[in-house]
Amino acid sequence: MINVVAFDIYGTLIDTQAVLGKLTGVMGEQAPSVARTWRQKQLEYSFRRGLMRDYCDFSVCTRDALLFSCRENGVAISPADVEQLMQAYAELEAFPDVHAGLQALAESGLRLNAFSNGSHEAVERLLQRAGIRDAFADVVSVEAVRSFKPAPEVYAHLVAVCGVPAERICLVSGNPFDVLGAAHAGLRTAWLRRDPGTQFDPWGVEPDITLESLDGLASRLRETRL
Ligand code: LAC
Repeated sequence: MINVVAFDIYGTLIDTQAVLGKLTGVMGEQAPSVARTWRQKQLEYSFRRGLMRDYCDFSVCTRDALLFSCRENGVAISPADVEQLMQAYAELEAFPDVHAGLQALAESGLRLNAFSNGSHEAVERLLQRAGIRDAFADVVSVEAVRSFKPAPEVYAHLVAVCGVPAERICLVSGNPFDVLGAAHAGLRTAWLRRDPGTQFDPWGVEPDITLESLDGLASRLRETRL
């Protein structure tokens, strides 16, 4: 039985592609390509820093990845534009299904937590701004253990904060690497396939639940009897 539902933030509840509008204002038609590499490199940098045991605030990965992406795409970007884009990243909106989805879960008696690579302060601010902070009992950041997803210690930290056994926690994430990391640490998992073009890694481990939006999650959790 599930007691706690933990949510990944960037790309799951908060729409990171929304920064595309600002990028287009800064660099025109190069924006889609820069946005794609920006997100890929941001995650790659967090993986590498985790492996190197060279933790930094996730915003450093985000900034370094933006600079790399501009470099790779041959875009000259001014320091002022970098600041403007970093600011846009700190003020991203929630996907449209998020408010109602969280409310339905809370009404079914589940405890909800946010769980992110982002620093505690950055995630608190982001959730406040998006108007969804009150849905969560705790905001859990990898910052506390100075590593990044999918290192097992960050999921162990989540489990410790939740105060229930790992199999009573369901991690909801739009990121397949995060779903696999959570499953590896003994949690139950729901993959929120925000983009139908995203494929799940063929590692022989499937999410307990796969869904396209948060709409049906409360009933799926009941039906699946996790
Ligand atoms: C997070 C990234 C992985 O919020 O999306 O943790």
